[in-house]
Amino acid sequence: MSNNEDIFKKVVSHAKEYGFVFPSSEIYDGLGAVYDYGQNGVELKNNLRTYWWKAMVQMHENIVGIDAAIFMHPKVWKASGHVDGFSDPMIDNKDSKKRYRADQLLEDKIARYEKDGKTNKANELQEAMDKALLDNDLPQLKSLIETHEIACPISGTRNWTDVRQFNLMFATEMGAAADESDKVYLRPETAQGIFVNFLNVQKTGRMKIPFGIAQTGKAFRNEIIARQFIMRMREFEQMEMQFFIRPGTQKQWYEYWKEARIKWHNKLGYGADKYRFHDHVKLAHYADAAVDIEFDFPFGFKEMEGIHSRTDFDLRNHQELSGKKLQYFDAELDENGKPYGNYIPYVIETSIGLDRLFLATLCACYKEEEVGEDDKKDTRVVLSLPSLLAPYKVAVFPLTKKDGLPEKARVIMDELKFDYNCFYEEKDAIGKRYRRQDALGTPYCITVDHDTLNDDTVTIRYRDTMKQERIPIAKIKEILREELDWKKLLA
Ligand code: GAP
Repeated sequence: MSNNEDIFKKVVSHAKEYGFVFPSSEIYDGLGAVYDYGQNGVELKNNLRTYWWKAMVQMHENIVGIDAAIFMHPKVWKASGHVDGFSDPMIDNKDSKKRYRADQLLEDKIARYEKDGKTNKANELQEAMDKALLDNDLPQLKSLIETHEIACPISGTRNWTDVRQFNLMFATEMGAAADESDKVYLRPETAQGIFVNFLNVQKTGRMKIPFGIAQTGKAFRNEIIARQFIMRMREFEQMEMQFFIRPGTQKQWYEYWKEARIKWHNKLGYGADKYRFHDHVKLAHYADAAVDIEFDFPFGFKEMEGIHSRTDFDLRNHQELSGKKLQYFDAELDENGKPYGNYIPYVIETSIGLDRLFLATLCACYKEEEVGEDDKKDTRVVLSLPSLLAPYKVAVFPLTKKDGLPEKARVIMDELKFDYNCFYEEKDAIGKRYRRQDALGTPYCITVDHDTLNDDTVTIRYRDTMKQERIPIAKIKEILREELDWKKLLA
């Protein structure tokens, strides 16, 4: 097992052991590519979402948020192109009856060629695959699978069906009569809730172009292959922002958002070398330019966020199919002194998967460190999360369970809990309690001991340095306020 595979396995088991992520319906052996967030996971996820929301909405006077419903009129998905075009090329192995994404099988082969030093073969296959995908040439995809002798990982045979397109949307029925007219979809992206509300928000918020609408929420895709833990899920959460602009200004705003978004990622401090841009060769049906921000996961660089120049594709199609005008009157004057007038705005979209950001955070922050000296050497597991993201900000410990120490610790806890998510614990030796908080990523521990009863001082212990300081109780809030200032991430 490579070191990276090893780390990834440890991250996955840490996530379960410490209440971050559980397989869904685990007592029934789980449900493929569906996961539940546990007591600590939900806090970390909420904090990541808050970081995004504050950066996008609170920090931009011209961006507002909404929360649209998951169910939408079925025509929405016709207009957006998802009914006809939101599919992956899939292929089945006739012996194992397993289904695969044809492009994924080819990607895996390319990776194997690269690993074996067969760079020419890898490049050749990559080029041929990109062309077949661009041309939507399904027979050519099958032919590439055959000529490169790709076998099913389960059956080991090369007994393949033809390649077919497989729509990724989940459908269900609304109301009592289960016929085609009642068919509704679980949204495969949150973006359409923003497009159909474009005029509602623009008018009621008296928004002037350029302006943005942001939203976070669940999206659903019937992914053919789901793997790598919460990387590719069938139910996941997106954080998307549509930025409405004057046609012709899309290049400028595309560059602006590329820069703004990479800056946002870098502020987390996981290391600039962990990110790279990847321009799309095959553009989605709605885009005239698209780039991914990829993160260096233990299993390689993979997409975490997409920035797409969506032109007026969505608003134009919704206007056509709904028969409702989705235009904006721009009173500003152009270079000839005439108002820009009515137009359908262009859109730059930023779209990040919250679960992938969560996974990137766990992978970047999971550390095993050697601590102690000589015969007392030990390994500690620490999640070096940015303090503002940690599930618990402070843990409060009485050194022992007696002599009035718990009562004193409770007074401190009761003072802090209004501002910070705090953890209280009396059980076990103090060292063990510190280690448990390290593993959860709690940045500060406050310990109450016998001296506290006499002089109202406590020990504050810092997660990353393990440094301990004696401070007056009265100073705790001041320290926390300084350390847990959103300005550090947002300025
Ligand atoms: N509205 C544009 C859109 O949905 P996308 O590239 O398909 O674009 C955006 O998805 C982001 O959503 C991705 O960058 C990824 O982080 C996340 N995402 C997509 N599919 C996912 C899945 N099956 N599981 C987890 N996250 C996913």
